[in-house]
Amino acid sequence: RWAAATGPRRVLLASPRSFCAGVERAIEIVERALDRFGAPVYVRKQIVHNIHVVRDLERRGAVFVDDLAEVPEGAVTVFSAHGVAPAVREEAGRRGLRVVDATCPLVAKVHTEARRFAARGDLVVLVGHAGHEEVEGVLGEVPGAGVLVEDEAGVAAVVENVPRGRGVAYLTQTTLAADEAGRVAAAIRRRFPDAEGPRGDDICYATTNRQHAVRAVAAEADLVLVVGSANSSNALRLTEVAARSGHDGAPLARLVDGPGDIALDWLRGARTVGLTAGASTPGAMVDAVVAALGGLGPLEVEERRVTEENVEFTLPKEVRP
Ligand code: F3S
Repeated sequence: RWAAATGPRRVLLASPRSFCAGVERAIEIVERALDRFGAPVYVRKQIVHNIHVVRDLERRGAVFVDDLAEVPEGAVTVFSAHGVAPAVREEAGRRGLRVVDATCPLVAKVHTEARRFAARGDLVVLVGHAGHEEVEGVLGEVPGAGVLVEDEAGVAAVVENVPRGRGVAYLTQTTLAADEAGRVAAAIRRRFPDAEGPRGDDICYATTNRQHAVRAVAAEADLVLVVGSANSSNALRLTEVAARSGHDGAPLARLVDGPGDIALDWLRGARTVGLTAGASTPGAMVDAVVAALGGLGPLEVEERRVTEENVEFTLPKEVRP
């Protein structure tokens, strides 16, 4: 507890935060598939990168697998929001799986761009993070014609390996930090002035809005808590953006999966706490963090809304009402 004389601690809620339209759609797809076809419904990889979402759906009959080989022939199988490589679709077809595709339409758009660039002979440079499912899916669209670049140093390595005269195009993962992605894209354009890319980048509206919002609260905060799982790309980026955007001396920024991860010593001297959540984090986890902070002493909660969101995606036909 802190001294009553200092008054209540302030919590600044970043808005927008939490679920994006692609995540809401992906979760709804699994729920509707369970209703329509009955349990079990198999889901390839985590439907979205959040442990609470995964556990909740498991309780309702979803079975998460890393590999399609674990799915029985003919079973209902959902592809996660992060998308899949064509080889995965082909395998599902061979095994007679009944696929419901929860790939976010904004990820699917990056797949389409990758195919278009590769079809005209370009080398497709994807700016993203190694090992992420979205990256595996996009590069899987352009076998032998794609290369991953993680940072500006990676651009230099690509330059050495591109034959003279070969066209170069670039794309970005949807959940990158906008400032970093911009620097890498600029490095690509410096080395390959003719390189075609998306206008700006492929970072989605939800990632962009959450980064703007966390920047707004970080400017006033001593500590920024980002609620999200450690394998969530967009939640990790929110933590990094918050750490970079503080007032004099950046605020401490920490990623937590829930209230249990908060260390009391982070709160020492933290009069103003910024709070946000990744696009795959349920709003209830933010409420739980606010409740936990409230349990430590008086709290004043304010919201900082930088923009409204009203994006909605239609459901795939297999689960449409
Ligand atoms: Fe789609 Fe962006 Fe969410 S790509 S799943 S709307 S974070």
